[in-house]
Amino acid sequence: MTRFAARLLIASCLSLLASQLACAGDAFVFKDHGKVVRTVSFEELAKISKPQAHNIFEPHESIQVTYQGLDFNALLDAVYGKAWKQAEELLFTCSDGYQPSIPGSRFAQYKSYLTISRDGGAFQLTNRLHNGQLVKLGPFYLIWENAKNEELRTESDTGYWPYQVTTVDLINFADRFPRLAPPTSASKQAKAGFVNFRNYCMRCHSINGEGGRVAPELNYPVNITEYYNEPMLKKWILEPTSVRYRTTMPALGNDLKDRSRLVDDIIAYFKAMRSSKQKPAPEKPESK
Ligand code: HEC
Repeated sequence: MTRFAARLLIASCLSLLASQLACAGDAFVFKDHGKVVRTVSFEELAKISKPQAHNIFEPHESIQVTYQGLDFNALLDAVYGKAWKQAEELLFTCSDGYQPSIPGSRFAQYKSYLTISRDGGAFQLTNRLHNGQLVKLGPFYLIWENAKNEELRTESDTGYWPYQVTTVDLINFADRFPRLAPPTSASKQAKAGFVNFRNYCMRCHSINGEGGRVAPELNYPVNITEYYNEPMLKKWILEPTSVRYRTTMPALGNDLKDRSRLVDDIIAYFKAMRSSKQKPAPEKPESK
């Protein structure tokens, strides 16, 4: 066993003890439309793609950081063949309940790495986007080659840099999240708001039970606009700490253009969902 694999095994076993989760820390799970294709151990992963140093601009800390990472496209090729390139979205599951969905086309366009350690320190970071929270990154943290790419450097809080990743699933968005879309009769603004919700909110929040587990459900049984008034809701989304001191909810990306309009659209989406309350599906145990 290589030294790095041994260290990872020890680290993953410790995190397993600490979190009492299913054995999520010791391997990476590859799924296709909800079904497990392969569960690959750290050792096997490192055989497919050797860990290498990648110096990137760390968006959570706004500094240059070097991570040791595996070529993520090479891992996808090894498990799925070329078929993954047709996937509409890649859905990541993280041990903290975070669940971001990333368009498949982005992986074909930019290089990404599944990282396993950080040079010069523990595998963790201080998340300025979450009120300076210290977060552990393992078992895996997905990063993008952004050192020379201005567009990728300025993206903030898109959910495209998930940490504590355990699983990837190739999904078709509408099939995977049938309870999330606004009614077909909804306004154009509400439909635009749905897109924003997907991009900026659903990795943490659920609607009708679909989405992330980090943060509260926002539609079922009571819709958020039924108990928050609109000006306060807008203030909350733009600047959460101006409403709740020390909340860990991040403000909607400060680098985004038209933040105010984005929020108005999201609120229109929430209102449209009042008439589309659907009982969440029963929780399925995470299959392995
Ligand atoms: C990184 C995770 C994360 C993201 C992304 C996120 N939130 Fe939150 N949100 C939270 C957490 C955590 C809470 C609970 C915070 C608290 O109570 O202090 C919360 C609370 C809320 C609440 C209050 C719920 C209640 O019943 O009190 C609303 C409304 C909300 N978020 C809306 C949004 C919207 C809209 C977006 C997208 C623009 C969004 N959030 C993005 C983590 C997130």
